[in-house]
Amino acid sequence: MTTPTAEIERQTAADILDPPKIPTELDGRRPEQRAPVGDWRVWLMHPGRRWGKGYAASRWIVDRVRTGEARSIALVGSTIRSVRQLMIEHPTSGILAVDPLARFMRSDGEIHWPNGAKAYVCSAENSNKPPLRGGGFDTGWGDEVDSWGLDTTARKAKEAWDNLSLSMSAGDSRLAVTSTPQPGRIVAALIARAKAEHDVSITTGSTYDNAANLSPQFIKDIERRFKGTRLERREIYGEVPEDVVGSLWQPGVFWYRNVKPDQCLRVAVGVDPSGGGDAIGIVAAGQLGPELFVVLDDWTTTGSPAKWARRTNELAEKWGADVVVAERNYGGDMVLATLKAASMQMPVRMVTASRGKHIRADPISLLYEQKKIAHRSGDAALDLLEEELRFMTTTGYVGEGSPNRADAAVWAFWELTKPRKTWGVA
Ligand SMILES: Nc1ncnc2c1ncn2[C@@H]1O[C@H](COP(=O)(O)OP(=O)(O)OP(=O)(O)O)[C@@H](O)[C@H]1O
Ligand SMILES: [Mg+2]
Repeated sequence: MTTPTAEIERQTAADILDPPKIPTELDGRRPEQRAPVGDWRVWLMHPGRRWGKGYAASRWIVDRVRTGEARSIALVGSTIRSVRQLMIEHPTSGILAVDPLARFMRSDGEIHWPNGAKAYVCSAENSNKPPLRGGGFDTGWGDEVDSWGLDTTARKAKEAWDNLSLSMSAGDSRLAVTSTPQPGRIVAALIARAKAEHDVSITTGSTYDNAANLSPQFIKDIERRFKGTRLERREIYGEVPEDVVGSLWQPGVFWYRNVKPDQCLRVAVGVDPSGGGDAIGIVAAGQLGPELFVVLDDWTTTGSPAKWARRTNELAEKWGADVVVAERNYGGDMVLATLKAASMQMPVRMVTASRGKHIRADPISLLYEQKKIAHRSGDAALDLLEEELRFMTTTGYVGEGSPNRADAAVWAFWELTKPRKTWGVA
């Protein structure tokens, strides 16, 4: 899975291989890189990769500073580091690269302009604090909005988006939103809002539009990766599919309910210990009645075996789990040993994945369709899980990376729904 940090490294590496052509003329924007006309509140850019959206957003911020429309600006990224590296200090598309008048006060996290305008570094990790909380901004830029949840939790990412939206409170405030073409919740919601309320203006475009400013090597690389694959339209042309074709989890299948800790008759925690540096899926699910189930929490995490085993244990204890179900495929008995080492009290059932993920997921998706599975409302961070489920299709998983959360949830439900002679409190 591409994390924002990996993205920075990818870009930096690309810039070293390919010394960027720093635009020499004062303004070399293509017409689509200029803010659209009209009285939109949000300008959403989700073009193909390296189209120049960062460059366009930086230039737009500077335009507004120059005209005096921007006095107070929120710059929001996944982490403080990503705001600095991608939005401010990126050597060819950051704000400092396109405006020699901008002074970055690094330790304060502010950009100052001679006319008094100021921009503030805000991170999605910390959106409940100033500057984002309580700042009445007239101008904002949210970068890679649908990746925010990767550096923090889905709940914090959603909160950050809400805080950013609320803080754009000045009279004629304007917000630019840039995103990779991979559809996520925020971009999808903005696309829907563009249709319903007409206050969102959308710009897309293809990587090729910016070919003049990209190295032929980059174009070759991206073609090798995506051309002829089902990701080509998305990654190169910035097209967001209306819906995932053949998804086992169609829109509208998710519903939510409150669950009290002692309400579940049985609880299982599913664990999908994947290889490499990938996330370990950890999802708790419960049974509320003969035909009613609920996803309780998604505590998927990255990190050492000791860390994910501890998280699993904590989650199991939080809900008084009856059983932990862990997939054996990767790591074999190491998984069991790791869980035992974390002094896991409940029984651990090891399962072996003999069929494809989507085949295993299919019967569970039917239970969702029948509204027999709810998601816990409140502080359960289930957005990322829902996203993975939506990308599980009749022919396999079509999302990015591997669906660790979805797998963990499916294992938990396999355990809870498998035929039992009796059911009830163990
Ligand atoms: N109109 C332009 N004139 C000159 N250079 C440009 C123009 N638009 C973009 N570039 C250059 O193209 C490169 C890619 O632009 P930018 O980093 O803004 O792309 P991006 O869409 O944000 O990319 P990514 O998908 O990697 O986030 C940068 O080096 C930038 O300076
Ligand atoms: Mg960018």
